[in-house]
Amino acid sequence: MGYDMIELTTDGAVATIKLDRPKALNALRSDMMAEMAKALTKLEKDDSIGCVILTGSEKAFAAGADIKEMAELEYLDIYKGDIFANHEAIDRFRKPIIAAVAGYALGGGCEIAMMCDFIIAADNAKFGQPEINLGVMPGIGGTQRLIRAVGKSKAMDMCLTGRMMDAQEALTSNLVSRVVPLDNLMETAQEAAAKIAAQSQPIAMMTKETINASFEMSLAQGIRLERRVFQSMFTTEDQKEGMAAFSEKRKPHFKNK
Ligand code: CAA
Repeated sequence: MGYDMIELTTDGAVATIKLDRPKALNALRSDMMAEMAKALTKLEKDDSIGCVILTGSEKAFAAGADIKEMAELEYLDIYKGDIFANHEAIDRFRKPIIAAVAGYALGGGCEIAMMCDFIIAADNAKFGQPEINLGVMPGIGGTQRLIRAVGKSKAMDMCLTGRMMDAQEALTSNLVSRVVPLDNLMETAQEAAAKIAAQSQPIAMMTKETINASFEMSLAQGIRLERRVFQSMFTTEDQKEGMAAFSEKRKPHFKNK
């Protein structure tokens, strides 16, 4: 529906955005990211969608920002054009979003996967921040998000040597939440997304927002925020329904209210 470089599909309450420039290993050209940002804006407004999956091809989730597009740019082109603003649409997206990663997730590819709420990796996934090989460094959050996921030593190792991490190392380093065989990747992501989408949408959104707030505040502030948000959930019909369903030994029917 009006997209050239991404595919947007829906299955029930789950939407999937597939990056679709396979010949260029899904290098993140700016017009592709503008399409992705547009799709996310639409999905955020769509009450029927409870969770989004961001994925690529079997060979590449995304091999980074498009080097050919960037190569000749000057500082003012990048500064005035705010070159990675559309990529940040993932970070701003308020509903749950899962990265389903197969193949290469390098540079900007690794960075947009890390903006998602969690990463499910296929066993052929390879993660890396190889920008240093190009005479630059990560510019879409890699220096900040990777260290929070894997700690200083490994983040430094990845960004300074530019080496890749395989799926098993990504799992043991806490960069990804699960590793599954490539053939099961989309089924696993869909199952997780459907489970999330079946929960109360506002409660899932508040949960995501509260977890993300932990990156920005002290433990005491975070605990206070959590308590207030938890208390506020008792204004919702979904809290009443969820707890009643437990007592009545039935499945809850959330109304997103
Ligand atoms: N930008 C533009 N084009 C890319 C690309 C990228 N990041 N990655 C791959 N491609 C293109 C290749 O140029 C090639 O196109 P042609 O067929 O027209 O030559 C096509 O995709 C297939 O790639 P390869 O032939 O190189 O495939 P391979 O299997 O031999 O190697 C690879 C795969 C190891 C991923 C290799 O393509 C590679 O090293 N890619 C670049 C990875 C990288 O450096 N990413 C960081 C980008 S910078 C960044 O992201 C900045 C930031 O943080 C802000």
